[in-house]
Amino acid sequence: MKLPAHATIYEVGPRDGLQNEARQVPTVDKLRFIEALVGAGIRDIEITSFVSPKWIPQLADASEVARGVNRPAGVRMSALVPNRRGLDTALAAGMKEIAVFLSASETHNKKNVNKTIADTLKAFDEVIPVARAANVSVRAYVSTVYGCPYEGDVDPERAVELTGQLRDMGVYQVSLGDTIGVANPRQVEDVLGRVLAKHPAEAVAMHFHDTQGTALANCLVGLQMGVTTIDAAAGGLGGCPYAPGASGNLATEDVVAMLHSMGVQTGIDLDKLTEASRTAATFVGHELPSKYLKAHLGKQARARRQAERSTS
Ligand code: HMG
Ligand code: MG
Repeated sequence: MKLPAHATIYEVGPRDGLQNEARQVPTVDKLRFIEALVGAGIRDIEITSFVSPKWIPQLADASEVARGVNRPAGVRMSALVPNRRGLDTALAAGMKEIAVFLSASETHNKKNVNKTIADTLKAFDEVIPVARAANVSVRAYVSTVYGCPYEGDVDPERAVELTGQLRDMGVYQVSLGDTIGVANPRQVEDVLGRVLAKHPAEAVAMHFHDTQGTALANCLVGLQMGVTTIDAAAGGLGGCPYAPGASGNLATEDVVAMLHSMGVQTGIDLDKLTEASRTAATFVGHELPSKYLKAHLGKQARARRQAERSTS
């Protein structure tokens, strides 16, 4: 099997994960979560969103998070920005990287940012050049690449066209999103094959939600095709509030465990990462879907029971 020696995990739990939680997570818990993830060796992390608090109240404390977070050297921290207002707030809060976002399907785009795709690209004209002039790196997401909750099938050529337009505008990487978790490995091979025929692999990232349990299989296809940046959320937190049925992201510990066991390095300490997810489960107040985390918690509980039995 042809695999890269190293893969980059782009952690989106504090943003894609927490944007979808019913409970308002206190800023201090968000900061601890980010710190724990960085402590586990995560080097690329999306910490929040500078979007309208009317649309995503869960991340209304974006400035507090961005100002409060420790920024060790070598760690890239990013945040979603939908418009010039979001960019100005992000810059004032010290962000050095941002991500713009749009969808491959009109209806999801409209539900998510209240604009057509064409108008969203126009709004990026007010964001990307200003960010680049301020020495801020810009990443981009294309959502609903593999299927739309409103329109169903999406033409795979949309991903190719939008990747081209976004790269022409100055983004360094385009993350292709399976927003509702419907992609299958064959479809991933088709979409990535088309995109990679026109764009270098380092300009492309994979972003899978794990609704149907296909995210790891999808990642494996992308890795074999040379795409080495994988978006994931600790514990499998996540979902998009404007994509009904979208469940959690691919869990970071699930993909890291698979990569390490195949000899693909990530620089991440799996035990520390799993502890970060365990902590996140306590502050969101419910179990998280990660399989590796569940197995880890089961092992811990068995060890505790054994220790209690041997002392009683
Ligand atoms: P709008 O209502 O059309 O625009 O929202 P507006 O300009 O009328 O703004 C509405 C209100 O928000 C106004 O306040 C603005 O001032 C304010 P009011 O005057 O009524 O008091 N506002 C802002 N406040 C703070 N920061 C800002 C900002 N902009 C406006 N930046 C808008 C348009 C784009 C703002 C809105 O639709 C929005 O914020 N959408 C964000 C939706 C979102 O974050 N979705 C989830 C992220 S995407 C995702 O999860 C997918 C991804 O993970 C990849 C994948 O899985 O595929 C990335
Ligand atoms: Mg997402």
